Amino acid sequence: MLGRFSSRLAVSPVAAPAVSFPPPPPPTTDPAPPVPSVEAVPPAAALPPAEKPAVTSPPAAPSESGPNAALKDKILDAKIRLHRRLIEELNLAALEKLPEAELRREISGIIAQWVVAERLPLNAKELDGFVSEVIDEMTGLGPLEPLLKDPTISDILINGHQNIFVERRGLLEPVPSLFKDEAHLLRIIQKIVSAVGRRVDESSPLCDARLLDGSRFNCAVRPIGVDGPLVSIRKFSKSKLSLDRLVEVGAIRPPMAEVLAAAVKARITTIVSGGTGSGKTTMLNALSAYISHTERLITIEDAAELQLQQPHVARMETRPPNIEGKGEIRQRDLVKNALRMRPERIILGECRGEEAFDMLQAMNTGHEGSMATIHANNPREAISRLEQMIGMAGLPMSQTSIRGQIAAAVRLIVQLQRMSDGKRKVTSVAEITGMEGDIIQMQEIYKWVRTSTDPDGTIHGHHVATGVRPRFLHDLVAAGVNIPGHYFDPSRPL
Ligand SMILES: Nc1ncnc2c1ncn2[C@@H]1O[C@H](COP(=O)(O)OP(=O)(O)OP(=O)(O)O)[C@@H](O)[C@H]1O
Ligand SMILES: [Mg+2]
Repeated sequence: MLGRFSSRLAVSPVAAPAVSFPPPPPPTTDPAPPVPSVEAVPPAAALPPAEKPAVTSPPAAPSESGPNAALKDKILDAKIRLHRRLIEELNLAALEKLPEAELRREISGIIAQWVVAERLPLNAKELDGFVSEVIDEMTGLGPLEPLLKDPTISDILINGHQNIFVERRGLLEPVPSLFKDEAHLLRIIQKIVSAVGRRVDESSPLCDARLLDGSRFNCAVRPIGVDGPLVSIRKFSKSKLSLDRLVEVGAIRPPMAEVLAAAVKARITTIVSGGTGSGKTTMLNALSAYISHTERLITIEDAAELQLQQPHVARMETRPPNIEGKGEIRQRDLVKNALRMRPERIILGECRGEEAFDMLQAMNTGHEGSMATIHANNPREAISRLEQMIGMAGLPMSQTSIRGQIAAAVRLIVQLQRMSDGKRKVTSVAEITGMEGDIIQMQEIYKWVRTSTDPDGTIHGHHVATGVRPRFLHDLVAAGVNIPGHYFDPSRPL
């Protein structure tokens, strides 16, 4: 069995090179470095014992004492050694071509032999877990794989290889690092960015990419990442939260959800505003469910995250410049192009620059009901951000005419916030009613009132109607939706 494995996956029998701990990062960080072919893998037991890695950061070993602890240490140490040798010496390129089941069989065989030779008391389950780790390393994204597979994790944040945090239920928590050293993390990063035809190094240390499962990836390596590579991953959640689900988790009250859904149906142009990770994309996706199935929709995003359920959706994604700095396609190009594609509505994943002007033009010229998200902390700020962004387009427009454009185009702002206890809430629903002089008029329809905070940080509060009846109600009636008057009564609980 070993013979079959080694003939195809030839490895070098030399001892693993010592891995130096940074700085500086080692120059060879290819995902699949060419390994010279040799005849055969020496039987695992005959491998010269690999030196203990200079720096390993396995999950913190329990601080027990006695024979049990010694045994655990031995297993851990053996695992690290084998792991290291397999990763460094196997011909990864050949391995990746094997079908998953065959690969697993091959690797399990080798590991089983090695475990016997080392007299490691691993049970079947532990052996299986170990095999998975090794396979993840070879064909997947190594220590990132279990985090990517864990559905309770929404973000993965790495500040240098030893410092990893994940976000679960809105709160950040540290996780033990499984990266062997900085070179290991860099190798995984190169593997990810090579999928978008990039390499990160000192001369181009920043990169955006998308993982195979659709997750958003960003990295900044040395010298920009001062303490080593910085990685941020926003995981793609397959099950997007619906508006009903947002009601269930307390992000919004049912009457508010009904008003928002009706506004989307009635083509009231809406902006979703919020800070980083406040749930903007989630809300945009949830609202989009109420768009009629007869409309042609065009989505424009940096990384396609929206999952529109309508049958007629044209999805477009921006493209970063290539390694020579050429070929970039920006959001603005796509918004302009979308206008030639006969859209009924344009959905812009995130409005953050010069495309704001074209987007507003579109909203003002027969594409009512278009939607976008914006990075701002309250509806007023969302408007001033829009103003600034239109300014970026470099057009000779006065402030009053910019504001006039905004007031004519945008009618509803849904504000989101991620609270310090990790919960996401709609904190304001505001309507833009027009201009008075050169000031954009806005009225709040619903808001979140915070009442108290528990010692453990849990925040209490409730949503209230402000008593203002939105002016767009008559558009809702015209679209055939009747909203009961008491939905806007501040004296009744929502
Ligand atoms: N109301 C909610 N309750 C619980 N989780 C939520 C809620 N809204 C969003 N989430 C989760 O929070 C994470 C961030 O959401 P989302 O991507 O929508 O935020 P965002 O504001 O678009 O972030 P970014 O600024 O990075 O684009 C996702 O994993 C999402 O599933
Ligand atoms: Mg988003």
